[in-house]
Amino acid sequence: MEDKIIRIVTIVGARPQFIKAAVISRLIANEYSGAISEYCVHTGQHYDHNMSKVFFQELLIPEPDINLEVGSGSHGRQTGEMLYKIEEALLQQKPDWVMVYGDTNSTLAGALAASKLNIPVAHVEAGLRSFNRKMAEEQNRVLTDHLASLLFCPTGVARQNLEDEGIKAGVEVVGDVMYDASLFYRSMVAEQRSVPPDNFYLLTLHRAENTDYPERLTAIVEALNSLNNFKGVFPIHPRTRKALEREGLRLKAHIKVIEPVGFLEMLRLEEACEFIVTDSGGLQKEAYFFAKPCITLRDQTEWVETVEAGWNVIVGADKEKIVTAFNDIKSDNRSAHSPTFYGNGRAGAKIIEKIINIQGKSFKEN
Ligand code: UD1
Ligand code: UDP
Repeated sequence: MEDKIIRIVTIVGARPQFIKAAVISRLIANEYSGAISEYCVHTGQHYDHNMSKVFFQELLIPEPDINLEVGSGSHGRQTGEMLYKIEEALLQQKPDWVMVYGDTNSTLAGALAASKLNIPVAHVEAGLRSFNRKMAEEQNRVLTDHLASLLFCPTGVARQNLEDEGIKAGVEVVGDVMYDASLFYRSMVAEQRSVPPDNFYLLTLHRAENTDYPERLTAIVEALNSLNNFKGVFPIHPRTRKALEREGLRLKAHIKVIEPVGFLEMLRLEEACEFIVTDSGGLQKEAYFFAKPCITLRDQTEWVETVEAGWNVIVGADKEKIVTAFNDIKSDNRSAHSPTFYGNGRAGAKIIEKIINIQGKSFKEN
């Protein structure tokens, strides 16, 4: 009984999840295949080549076992279609655990489908809070955390957030799998830098709270356009491309708009840039990992330690604050930086070992 292979179904669907799940999938395939088998369900939330397939090609992980091809839609339609399609996959696979990552609609659909079938859920990146319940991501992460049996927190702050909501059982602070990913894949690109260091800032922008509110999007574009002594590189999310077209907004030539890039190219850009301007959760941390100052185009952040450490400044969509933050950017405090908030690059291994441990115990009890 103790030798039984633990069957995990991993649910992914959106770009950052492919990167987070790659850390665990790679470890399972290379180091834990005798203990765990993984079946990967891609919901199809992201589907463009540069939003999905490129990650499976680059990150040394197997293609998903099934793609549910749910695609884009309103929150209810998208999450609902995922829910019943994931349920079908889980009924067929009968896993011991379902693993979900982060805070997207794919995360919530996976957690809900599993818990209604009484399959235990492990949530990676548990406990993050913006305390803004209007954000779809906040709704997704709160609900997922309350459904999960194992909650893998990147930081002590995340654990405290869970405790404040009465969640104590099954909580483990393991570090951040994104830090593991940055370390591992950065070593892969170290030898082949295609982007020379240069005076440019790296821009990403895709959050609904910016793209879906014309006054916010306009303020951001006007601020960036006015900062014409700063060169920008902007891998644009399809949501943002559509929003700019819809609003008739154009970025000026000092901001180079490019297609979304694969993770390896992103790491090269992060290494080469002077600073990062973003509304992405992942980019805020990667800025910190790479010791690059970060300007965050949101009204609050889940990654509060980067702000407390002085590496991240929150400016929302406020034109004046954006311009001031650009002019205040100092990249000369890099030597004071030490990436201690997010673990030691072994979050993935800790997660797997915890699951093996727990499963072993319940096998013994049975
Ligand atoms: C989702 C997550 C967000 C995460 C982001 C990562 C939710 C609620 N939001 O936001 O937390 O930060 O992924 O990138 O789950 N589109 C394409 N091609 C694609 C994917 C999307 O054209 O491959 C366009 C469609 O017009 C779609 C829009 O982008 O309607 C938004 O996509 P969706 O997956 O709903 O949300 P994201 O903004 O990507
Ligand atoms: N990313 C990427 N290519 C891009 C933009 C982002 O590989 O063109 C990576 C980025 O480095 C980070 C992750 O995707 O690891 C973050 O995803 P995103 O910003 O889409 O979502 P969020 O983190 O805000 O949920």
